[in-house]
Amino acid sequence: MNVLVVGKGGREHAIAWALEKSCLVKNIYAAPGNPGIESLGQCVPIDAEDINGLTKFAQDKNIDLVFVGPDGSLEAGVVDAIENIGIRAFGPTRAAAEIEWSKAFAKQMMLEDNIPTADFSVFTDVSKARNYVKERGAPIVIKVDGLAGGKGALVCNTLDEALHALEDIMTAKLYGKAGSKVVIEDFMRGEEASIFALTDGKNWVTLLPSQDHKAINEGDTGPNTGGMGAYAPAPIINEEMLAEIATRIIEPTITGMRKRGRIYRGVLYCGIMITADGPKVVEFNSRFGDPEAQVILPLLENDLMELALSVSEGKLCSKALSWKNKTATCVVMASQGYPGSYQKGKNISGLDFLNPMDDVFAFHADTALKDGQLITNGGRILGITALAEDLQSSISRAYHAVEYVKFDNQYFRRDIGAKGL
Ligand code: GLY
Repeated sequence: MNVLVVGKGGREHAIAWALEKSCLVKNIYAAPGNPGIESLGQCVPIDAEDINGLTKFAQDKNIDLVFVGPDGSLEAGVVDAIENIGIRAFGPTRAAAEIEWSKAFAKQMMLEDNIPTADFSVFTDVSKARNYVKERGAPIVIKVDGLAGGKGALVCNTLDEALHALEDIMTAKLYGKAGSKVVIEDFMRGEEASIFALTDGKNWVTLLPSQDHKAINEGDTGPNTGGMGAYAPAPIINEEMLAEIATRIIEPTITGMRKRGRIYRGVLYCGIMITADGPKVVEFNSRFGDPEAQVILPLLENDLMELALSVSEGKLCSKALSWKNKTATCVVMASQGYPGSYQKGKNISGLDFLNPMDDVFAFHADTALKDGQLITNGGRILGITALAEDLQSSISRAYHAVEYVKFDNQYFRRDIGAKGL
């Protein structure tokens, strides 16, 4: 079969890597892909949200399945467009993906369907939002309604911070259209985990629980990023907790979406806070997490293509998936300055040293090739993943591998996985 992976990050490299192992897959294409994916298939210069370009390419190359990675493509309606031309797509339609691209929609659904989450209110008027914040007090969480690259949730520890956040979002419009509406919600105390369910809209199966590290600095401090590292399985989610999340959150969400005529197919990402009152939803995302995909997919023993086909055809029958009896840790190597401003175009070397290492992977994110030389091309550059028999060993192996990778102005957190020990 021919498969087209849409996207260009570490997540999409991990997806392409897992698909390439399938005996069902003959050719892998990626739009637009990255130099890492290029070693597995062919990258084509089509933007991940270019509906016309993607549909035309899928038809021309007889693509059997389009695997959509990024949230922006789902919001743009790539799945709808691909399915409209009679080609299978992995991922929710635009209407179903609203669970991610509108935080207000997701919160309203949770309220109506009794899915546990923090109390909240939605505002389009800045003075009403200010009054609400003053009434509730700090700490408090302010979220832009739309997509913001993982940077749209602001945890405000003081009233002053919260009022500033409202000014930035609603008056200065620093988040553009995504911030034309805000969700203000109570701060939840606890530890956060990422739980993924593969679903065909009715049947579902959970993936290994993982934890990512969203903050830029060690000790989970500083501004949020797209994710600075991850590990799986996360011991904080034992079987009993996973069963509770499944009953109280996953099942009612999939049913709730179906009830609303928005059949949800693909991967449902539940960002869960483990609070003293049990698990509560922080947010839903409509795609694989990044970097979580970079630790989960290398541990998966099932054929990803087979699973993706059954999800897209509405025939998911797996009751449980098979996993390697190992732990995976991914350390994201970024450009100094990210998530603020940073320099690009730095030469990357040392990846060749990782090739002979068993169960060590360098997933490319923002890399590019210039005159045959691999260079940095953005904020998050590479995800270095290592598998080992336990968490401590996988952390040590990942950091050992990171030592080989050289580029100027590199930055990475040194405590990835430590919270799981
Ligand atoms: N790791 C966070 C995200 O993918 O949204």
